[in-house]
Parts: sequence; C-alpha cells; structure tokens
Amino acid sequence: MEGRSLIEPGNFSLEETEGLFALAEKIENDDTFLRGSCGGKLLATLFFEPSTRTRLSFEAAMLRLGGSCLGFADPGSSSAAKGESLADTVRMAASYADAIVMRNPKEGAALLASRYSPVPVINAGDGGHHHPTQTLTDLLTIRRLRGGVKDLVVGYCGDLKFGRTVHSLAKALSRYENISMIFISPEELTPPEYIVRHLQKSNVEFREIRSLEEAMPHLDVLYMTRVQRERFFNEEDYIRLKDTYILNEEKMALGKKELVVLHPLPRVNEIAVEVDDDPRAAYFKQAKYGMYVRMALLSSILGVSGA
Ligand code: NCD
Repeated sequence: MEGRSLIEPGNFSLEETEGLFALAEKIENDDTFLRGSCGGKLLATLFFEPSTRTRLSFEAAMLRLGGSCLGFADPGSSSAAKGESLADTVRMAASYADAIVMRNPKEGAALLASRYSPVPVINAGDGGHHHPTQTLTDLLTIRRLRGGVKDLVVGYCGDLKFGRTVHSLAKALSRYENISMIFISPEELTPPEYIVRHLQKSNVEFREIRSLEEAMPHLDVLYMTRVQRERFFNEEDYIRLKDTYILNEEKMALGKKELVVLHPLPRVNEIAVEVDDDPRAAYFKQAKYGMYVRMALLSSILGVSGA
C-alpha cells in the first residue's frame, strides 16, 4: 500500500482493509515492533475545519511510530487566508512532508489535493462527502466488539444527509456479507442519492424510517450522529431538526442485549450522558481504536509496516 492515497473507502480493496485491521490489532496488543519505524518521516496535517479526535489521533499515531508532524489546525493562520489555492498549499506541503492528512469543508477537496500531490493524501473529511479513516475506526470497533463484520443489522440515526461518516461507513459496509441497514432520520436529512444508488447496485437490503423506537429492537449496531450545523443553509432549520432523536435509557431499554452503540463524536445532545454507563455504549472505546488503525494506515502507506 506504499505511496497510496485514501480519499474514500473504495480506494482500498476489502483484503487491504482487512490487512489494516489485522495490523491494528497487533499494534493494540503490543506496538513495540513498529516503534521508531517512521523515524525521520514527516506528516503534514492540514486542517481547514475544526477537529479534535481525528487530528490528535493522527498526530499521536505518527509520534508513536517515531515520526514527526507539522501543519495547522486553524486555516486563518495559513496562506489560504491570503487567497492561496488548495493546489498550491498542497504542493508546498508535499515538498516538506512524506504524507498529508487533510480536512476541508469542500466536497472533493481531498481528491483534488491528491491530483497535485506527489506524496500520499489522506482524506480526514471533505465537507459532507466522505471520511474514510473514521470508517476504518468504526469497522475496527465493530470487528472487535462483535467478533467480525457480518450478519448484522446496522442502524444509522440523525443527520444522514450531511454526515460524511455515515456515507463512508455505509459504502464500506456494503462490501461485507449479510449486512442490512436501517436509515433513521427526518425527511429532510435522508442519505444522499449517490449512497442510496450505491447500496442498490451492491444489492444491500436497506430501508429508511423516521422512528428510532421502531428500529431499536432490530439493531445489532446503532450509529448515532450529530446534526451537522455547519452545513445548514439556515439556522432555523438546524434548530428545528437538531433534537429530533435523543438516545436515552428509555430507548436503550428497547435494544438488544448485544447492541453496540457507536458515535464518531463530538456528540451534542443526541446521546444523553446517562447512556455512557450502559455497557453497550462503545463510542469512547471507538475513539481509542482510531489511533491504532491510523498507526496501521500510516505505517502501510509510508512503507514501513513490513506488510
Ligand atoms: C466527525 C466528522 O468530522 O465528520 N467527527 C470525527 O471526525 N470524529 C463527525 C462530526 O463532526 O459530527
């Protein structure tokens, strides 16, 4: 996988993705075998949009591998604020670093960046489009907590229109065996056409419903999401829709015993804090798996994993 970019989940084959999970699990057990492997290598983190977990977990991953990071988390402090084009910013970053991780509010920005960059580009979120490394995190969490990724009913709840993590996860899960999906959202926030078409083409069984209560008893995995305020055209719509679904103890009581509740975080109101103590709540574990899988990804694309 050396030298490859990751823009959307389909860029890596199922076998390559599974290879990353095997490596991440090995790292979770004991990461000494990779310690220092990225010595002398530099990762540029270009964050044109806010981030906590994604940026910190990439930086932690690179530092744990013995490499270094440079970049910005506030686009106002980069030359983008002076009107520099993305292509030029990326060409510059590529001349200093061995790989680039980028988050940008524009759909397609990461793909564009990868066309100008001689070093691998990892998409850490392009607008409301894709977020493939969150998907690696989500799949690894499901694999670890459910013993594999197959024969599952997966429910996605919240902002399925603008939620890029949902788009990437649904696309990735369509390659696994016997996964059916329930999309739970208000009418205005249903998944985009290109995701629906992809699922139809892949013969995935799915339905769209409005009620979380109705879905609860059927689910093996529940993927909660935040309503993406920054992608709304007007504040009134956001306010009207933001609290449509709130997962609380009462709703959890309708779920299966082995249910796994995921959330890419940050959460706003959509999961009541009382749910955090439920053993089925896995979103904080999920954040930790994110670092292991990013270590696996970075060492693979930088060609130091030995795989
Ligand atoms: C998500 C994102 O940025 O899309 N966060 C993350 O990377 N963990 C989800 C969100 O912001 O709602």
